[in-house]
Amino acid sequence: MSLLNRYKFSLLPILASVFMHAQSTYDAKIDALLAKMTLEEKIGQMNQYNGFYDATGPAPQGGNAALKYEHLKKGWVGSMLNVHGVGEVRKLQELVVNESRLGIPLLFGFDVIHGYKTLAPIPLAEAASWDLEAIRQSASIAATEAAAVGLNWTFAPMIDISRDARWGRVMEGAGEDPYLGAKIAIARIQGFQGNDLSAPNTIAATAKHFAAYGFAEAGKEYNTTEVGTNTLYNFVLPPFEAAVSANVSSVMNGFNLLNGVPVTASSFLQRDILKGKWNFNGFVISDWSSIGELVPHGYAKDLKEAAELGAEAGSDMDMESKAYIQHLKSLVEEGKVDEEIINEAVRRILKVKFELGLFDDPYRYCNLEREKELLYNKAHQQGVLDMAKKSIVLLKNQGKLLPLQKDQKNILVIGDLADDKNSPLGSWRLASDNDTAVSVLEGLDQYTKDYKFVQGPKYFNDDTDFLYHVKINSDDRSGMEEAIEAAKSAETIVLVVGEHGFMSGEGRSRTTIGLPGLQHELIRKIHAVNKNIILVMMNGRPLTIPWEAENLPAIIEAWQLGSQTGNAIAQVLFGDYNPSGKLPMTFPRSVGQIPIYYNHYSTARAKEEPIVFWTHYTDEKNEPLFPFGFGLSYANFAYSDVQIDAAKPENIKVSVVVTNTSDVAGEEVVQLYLNDPVSRIVRPVKELKGFEKITLGPKESKKVSFSLTHKELGYYNQDYRWVVEPGSFHLMIGSNSQEGVHASFILE
Ligand code: NOJ
Repeated sequence: MSLLNRYKFSLLPILASVFMHAQSTYDAKIDALLAKMTLEEKIGQMNQYNGFYDATGPAPQGGNAALKYEHLKKGWVGSMLNVHGVGEVRKLQELVVNESRLGIPLLFGFDVIHGYKTLAPIPLAEAASWDLEAIRQSASIAATEAAAVGLNWTFAPMIDISRDARWGRVMEGAGEDPYLGAKIAIARIQGFQGNDLSAPNTIAATAKHFAAYGFAEAGKEYNTTEVGTNTLYNFVLPPFEAAVSANVSSVMNGFNLLNGVPVTASSFLQRDILKGKWNFNGFVISDWSSIGELVPHGYAKDLKEAAELGAEAGSDMDMESKAYIQHLKSLVEEGKVDEEIINEAVRRILKVKFELGLFDDPYRYCNLEREKELLYNKAHQQGVLDMAKKSIVLLKNQGKLLPLQKDQKNILVIGDLADDKNSPLGSWRLASDNDTAVSVLEGLDQYTKDYKFVQGPKYFNDDTDFLYHVKINSDDRSGMEEAIEAAKSAETIVLVVGEHGFMSGEGRSRTTIGLPGLQHELIRKIHAVNKNIILVMMNGRPLTIPWEAENLPAIIEAWQLGSQTGNAIAQVLFGDYNPSGKLPMTFPRSVGQIPIYYNHYSTARAKEEPIVFWTHYTDEKNEPLFPFGFGLSYANFAYSDVQIDAAKPENIKVSVVVTNTSDVAGEEVVQLYLNDPVSRIVRPVKELKGFEKITLGPKESKKVSFSLTHKELGYYNQDYRWVVEPGSFHLMIGSNSQEGVHASFILE
């Protein structure tokens, strides 16, 4: 079916996005090149193959190497993924540049999610820093290393909002909030792309997964999503819109159905919104085989129709489905796909290649010296250490058990994860070498030799990897007794628990999100003999730990912090770094509360009643275990003196005084939440609309100011139009989403 026939009534938006291709400085060059290309060569640019190893998806056995080489030589491949290292990249780039007719250089894409060799904390942990400059810097380190090994494109940042900690990929995003998520999306994109894509230390970024993948039903991987317009426009899409405003080079779609349509085939998302309303001028890459998956989804009858539907919907490049390379040519020849759709996609792809400088020098990212010099280099280690410290969240510190004295004696460290050098690297660490993280024990060694380590029961089987589930030990209790015995005489116990790094990430959904294996039992048994426990948690998602939160005096949320894990944790334990992280995602008390998120709506029956007719559970509290934005410091902060100047409705000025009431310096993330109490589309009970991270010396006070413009005061209505409703607004400024000073103003 031709494009004209299929879309008789809705042709305009589609063709508008096809013809309104973004102006770029390279237009003339792109047009000239396009004019020389055969149809096959154009379609080739839209084709991405996985390399011959390191698959990050279900790859065919043997990788079809011979066919891929043949296609590379013909110029039928626009990009490769999972080919990295100067030697490997140069080999393929030479093949294409020297042997294909037009010699159009390849893009080399890779999942550089939180580092290449030197690993920063997992993205969810970084988000806990609320430190945009540190996050930008961390992405820049990742880009520098990636660009040093021949790569020019990362499939990051993932900016899927999620409210469901069962979903394993929450580790890869920035949590539940669209405002924080949008700011972090911009910081990451700026870190990867810099100001000049052709610089030797920058790479093209990808905002993914467009859209709503984080709303997978029941937190089950690849599951369907049903999201109404209010949630879509106001929660799911804002980080993507921000990414486009930050000039992200590419956008990846996803595996999920959104309201019955696979997002990969969604003209509504990709043409109307992304390329239309937002005027995105990069290109759309499919997710791994997501065009082919239109068939098992029940959307396309075969791979050929999948190619037709994917291309028409604006998926410009096909990752590993082989649908475009096999079928687009005949679809064009049969008049089913308009050639202008192909031209549009190719223009977008070529534009990024020009911007990366690949036409000036296809080998600009292939420099052996840089590769040798930059991987794991000292400055990068320093950078990720800084990021790691800032990502740690202090969840509890009763009786000031923390920080430990530098000369503290008789410390007992327990837990298999404490001497683990692999798990802290996290899940997306495809290129990093195994066992290269600084373990917690190695970090402690920098401070004291006066500690004892007892492993306790084995947590998991040693042979863990990216492709398979971690095998957890749930019945072999050897080691338990020894740990309990040692605990009896210890002064302070540092108990290191959590999830293995490969327990979160893609394909790692869980139905229970407590501490796996025998860890909870171990904690309780230790607690029965010695209560002086500092729990250090390393995990890739919020965990349900109500017993621990109630009974243990000190809890540190350390996530998976990457290469410098142990050093960062030790600095926090001994007070050389005063923790400043705040949770970017709500910690539920129990799985039954999910989805639980701070920016929810009020029911009309929110107030507690003696009878049953109010919003609550019979068997669980409404409150989370730890709310969004929560995190303690060794310092204490007080908020006072909110001032509001609402004279200019387009720029309302708000200020608050924050005082460090303690004797130690500390950092605080000052958070501003807004609520519009009466609105034609009901607004959440509160929404983050501003934050600032400040440093305060002992007893120091600072005035922190915010500006509220229409951008902060409005919302998207059902027609996807931004509206600002005059009337009264409430605000709260404080140190987390539940505590703060309140005030109101009228918007004229
Ligand atoms: C599938 C994942 O969903 C996506 O995020 C990733 O970039 C690709 N695989 C490539 O590895």
